[in-house]
Amino acid sequence: LSIVVLISGGGSNLRALLEASTDAEFPARIVAVGSDTDAPGLAYAEQFGVPSFTVVPTAFADRASWGDELLTQVEQWSPDLVVCAGFMRILPPRFVRALSPNLINTHPALLPAFPGAHAVRDALATGVTETGVTVHIVDEGVDTGPVLVQQAVPVLPGDSEHDLHERIKTVERELLVQAVLDIANTHLTLTDHLKSNATPGS
Ligand code: GRF
Repeated sequence: LSIVVLISGGGSNLRALLEASTDAEFPARIVAVGSDTDAPGLAYAEQFGVPSFTVVPTAFADRASWGDELLTQVEQWSPDLVVCAGFMRILPPRFVRALSPNLINTHPALLPAFPGAHAVRDALATGVTETGVTVHIVDEGVDTGPVLVQQAVPVLPGDSEHDLHERIKTVERELLVQAVLDIANTHLTLTDHLKSNATPGS
């Protein structure tokens, strides 16, 4: 199985996948892709000896041309699955259509609650006592694709955004690794989760 992991930041989810992939049972080769040359998480790719590259949005005139180049480079690895793990860019429609449903994302909230780039901060600001993690198929919306798995995470009194996000991440990396393993072992058939209104080949 060939997995391409898209990151933008610290890469703790990428690290979890790389650690899992050292297990002989883990049936995947991983390639890391950063949205920025200085994405700290790319260091994990080097540490684990897997290929990595970056496609930086600022090098392109617009989102569509960045997305096309990203797609071209990602497809060179013939991925069976593309995982957005802390990837802080919205993927353009052509990219999504080419790869979904073999394109999943992890989000630090219980979607449809708190979509977007500030899910942890929004949950705290709203005063909920429980939030969580969602792994879902990426569709052309933002954090709107079919949910594969979710797990709740408590919000504790006095939580800072950092405290809550770290607690979320401890759950998130387990959930993501398990979801990828389930997909790899075909326990989780992505096409089964397509929205009912999706006509075949849409
Ligand atoms: C993760 O919680 C992800 O869901 C969110 O940002 C965080 C990235 O963490 N979008 P990392 O880069 O995987 O450490």
